[in-house]
Amino acid sequence: MTRLPKACIIGAGSSGIAGAKTLLQRGIPFDCFEKSDEVGGNWAFGNRNGMSAAYRSLHINTSRQRMEYPDFPMPADWPDFCHHSHIKRYFNDYVDHFGVRQHIAFETAVQHAARRPDGVWEVTLEGGEAREYDALVVANGHHWDPRWPEPRFPGAFSGREMHAHEYVDTTGFEGKNVVVLGMGNSAMDIAVEASLVADNVYLAARRGAWIIPNYIFGKPSDQMPNDPRLPVRVRLGIMQKILETVQGRPEDFGLPKPDHRLGEAHPTVSNYVLSRIQHGEIQPKPNIARLEGDRVRFSDGSVVEADIIVYCTGYKVTFPFFDASLVSAPDNDLPLFRRCFHPELDNLFFLALLQPLGATMPLAEAQSKWIAHYLRGEYHLPSRAEVRRDIERERRRMFKRYVKSKRHTMQVDFDEYLVALDKEIRAGMARARRAGYALPVPAKAAASAGEPGTGEVVAA
Ligand SMILES: Cc1cc2nc3c(=O)[nH]c(=O)nc-3n(C[C@H](O)[C@H](O)[C@H](O)COP(=O)(O)OP(=O)(O)OC[C@H]3O[C@@H](n4cnc5c(N)ncnc54)[C@H](O)[C@@H]3O)c2cc1C
Ligand SMILES: NC(=O)c1ccc[n+]([C@@H]2O[C@H](COP(=O)([O-])OP(=O)(O)OC[C@H]3O[C@@H](n4cnc5c(N)ncnc54)[C@H](OP(=O)(O)O)[C@@H]3O)[C@@H](O)[C@H]2O)c1
Repeated sequence: MTRLPKACIIGAGSSGIAGAKTLLQRGIPFDCFEKSDEVGGNWAFGNRNGMSAAYRSLHINTSRQRMEYPDFPMPADWPDFCHHSHIKRYFNDYVDHFGVRQHIAFETAVQHAARRPDGVWEVTLEGGEAREYDALVVANGHHWDPRWPEPRFPGAFSGREMHAHEYVDTTGFEGKNVVVLGMGNSAMDIAVEASLVADNVYLAARRGAWIIPNYIFGKPSDQMPNDPRLPVRVRLGIMQKILETVQGRPEDFGLPKPDHRLGEAHPTVSNYVLSRIQHGEIQPKPNIARLEGDRVRFSDGSVVEADIIVYCTGYKVTFPFFDASLVSAPDNDLPLFRRCFHPELDNLFFLALLQPLGATMPLAEAQSKWIAHYLRGEYHLPSRAEVRRDIERERRRMFKRYVKSKRHTMQVDFDEYLVALDKEIRAGMARARRAGYALPVPAKAAASAGEPGTGEVVAA
């Protein structure tokens, strides 16, 4: 009998609950700490943690068949693009189905996590209690810390400036002139909704985007054949041709011409924005150049009256519980081995710290299984030098493929990622076999009996 290492999971959003379920199934002792009083993170509209970016009308833009965990399908009679209330229910059903809820410590935020020289994590909870762990799994989400335009636009605005994270519904937008900045999914949804009640809506962008409809040929567009064995250029080239033929090019609607091919930016999905532009209810504009009191000047010299500016300018990746000298992501960039294992700290893992072409939930689940193999000694990492080379290779490929932007620092292609991860796990299992299944992360942390999820002694 060998004592397995004990893990701490930070967060019980869709990523943290996948981690907790997997560690529970694999007999790995863990504590899962959740700041809020409920699971679901971003998908719990009005979450008491104040971190959810969900607005009243939010629907998923990755189809439910892409988003569901492989071992827990969403009900077949749910819509393809469910409302956030469905998704929250789904995560609650998931934790109850797998018996995970009782292993989550709710309203218990992790305040600080420090790594001792012997590798043990000292985790301090809000309120001051300190606990020890052999491994740390970070699942605190990366869409809650608003990124405002950097640098701020020159001039001053006398109206209301808000970030998409604050947006709940169109209350207060009635009869107003609204400028929405950005070409991501927040900008699309908010501009469309605002256009139903506001006098004027201006959609400002510094760069064009391909607008992908939710459906193509009657199927959710993220379920179009996407065989990862075909070169990505071929796959996306076909998709771009289909879009141009069926829908038209963005510049045909007065939007900026994308400076990239389809698939070289995080997908912008909207069924409605082009239609609202065609109806004259949204007016495309280039980037904001200057704020002039109750007016906004754009980079083409045009000026409009404005009451509200909604900055849909994305999010910062932050870890308030780490000392920045230990772990941080300046400009949203944190290199990780296959977007999960920290390359230098061999007992630190991140769930869904990635931006997929596709949904995050099955990827968080696959990463959790990988971590479980590792913590049980069934998977061994390649040498540190090979890990670094692998990270560099992946980063070179990513930065070459995607438009240079702080939103493209952790892009992965859903299908490619899962195929490559499966291959890596099999290679690491062979390494573990050769090494006699030694535990890469030995159990050193003081056992704390009676805590949720603690199964102290487990056969490896
Ligand atoms: C508006 C919007 C729509 C989106 N739509 C989609 C979509 O359709 N499909 C898709 O795949 N992705 C979508 N995303 C991406 C989104 O990030 C994921 O869907 C998903 O929420 C990621 O889950 P997570 O668990 O990693 O993070 P979160 O959902 O953010 O959950 C993190 C959890 O960690 C907890 N936490 C944070 N810090 C601490 C701490 N210090 N101590 C304890 N607990 C802590 C939080 O309370 C929270 O419960 C969307 C994002 C946004 C902003
Ligand atoms: N319905 C849904 O399911 C839904 C809805 C909303 C959001 N989401 C998800 O939530 C995540 C965040 O989306 P998001 O749209 O909030 O953010 P995002 O994808 O990061 O997009 C930010 C947008 O703002 C632009 N931008 C950033 N800084 C700027 C500046 N200083 N000046 C001008 N433009 C600037 C970016 O342009 P560049 O490209 O040039 O950097 C980009 O167009 C994504 O994963 C998204 O898919 C999903």
